[in-house]
Amino acid sequence: MAKAPPIVPGDTGIAQAVDSLRTGKLVGMPTETVYGLAADASNPEAVARIFAVKGRPSFNPLISHVGSLDMAVAEGVLDERAVQLAKRFWPGPLTLVVPVRDSARTCELARAGLGTIGLRVPRHSVTHALLNAFGGPVSAPSANLSGQLSPTCAEDVAREFGEEVATVVDGGPCRAGIESTIVSSLPDDELRLLRPGAISRSQLELIAGPVGDAQPGSISAPGQLSSHYAPNARLRMDATDVSDSEVLLGFGPDAPEGIANLSARGDPVEAAANLYRLLRELDANGAETIAVMPIPDIGLGEAINDRLRRASAPR
Ligand code: TXA
Ligand code: MG
Repeated sequence: MAKAPPIVPGDTGIAQAVDSLRTGKLVGMPTETVYGLAADASNPEAVARIFAVKGRPSFNPLISHVGSLDMAVAEGVLDERAVQLAKRFWPGPLTLVVPVRDSARTCELARAGLGTIGLRVPRHSVTHALLNAFGGPVSAPSANLSGQLSPTCAEDVAREFGEEVATVVDGGPCRAGIESTIVSSLPDDELRLLRPGAISRSQLELIAGPVGDAQPGSISAPGQLSSHYAPNARLRMDATDVSDSEVLLGFGPDAPEGIANLSARGDPVEAAANLYRLLRELDANGAETIAVMPIPDIGLGEAINDRLRRASAPR
């Protein structure tokens, strides 16, 4: 097993992280959703290393993380709808897919050759300081091997990768715990929800009006890959009973006492924040199949059920 990368504290590790990014190295970067595996988005070699280290299919484009709306506008063409969403939800767990600007610094490989770009301004003081100190777009997929669970603390990242990663910046446990919501805002098309995430559909619609779904067959988010976000254990959703070979993951006050519970008070926000951590823990304890109690499709329940559906898909 390769040696784990050093974990540096957020407040003092930023200069070192920026230095690593500038020299084409990979950095574990905290955000409010999940940890990212970060590289200089303008450096194709560094970006290629992300795909290699993650084992990620190269057709799957990366989000460019930036420190401000101005930096986003330098990369992509945000129409009025996109600016409205950005002003309401940035910094925060919203990724906007918009046409790429000709002068964008994000390289073609990071965009998987598409004419569009995914942009996000994370809401995390450490990330914010890091992105502004770096001063350019940072490509960062979730810092997990392709198809596996997203990491929600610095130790998860360090465990997943060897010294291919120069440093992991510790920003504490992720508050949201589930990935950003991805919305496309493209010419001559309605707004579309490409991936449900930490901002719920109803929160979006309050600002932007009705939001359509991803077009089937279009390149959308990991939505494309039916098996994704998967623990090693098998997973069964909407479990109302549990067999001998299964371990039950609870939700809500009706769950049996003493078992892992996503949210004992039935709060989907709390459940989202706990999801990957609890799946990892049950995995580490050697569960063969994780049976998850039903979670209503309301608010962040939509994003949680989306991830659980992918994790339970045949592999
Ligand atoms: O919360 C998050 O979004 C985290 C943190 C690190 O920011 N990042 C994350 O990245 O989840 P990743 O690569 O694991 O998932 C982002 C998804 C990709 O699967 C990709 O399909 C989609 O965003 N995406 C990126 N650019 C796109 C584009 N131009 N068009 C359509 N989808 C795009
Ligand atoms: Mg991911």
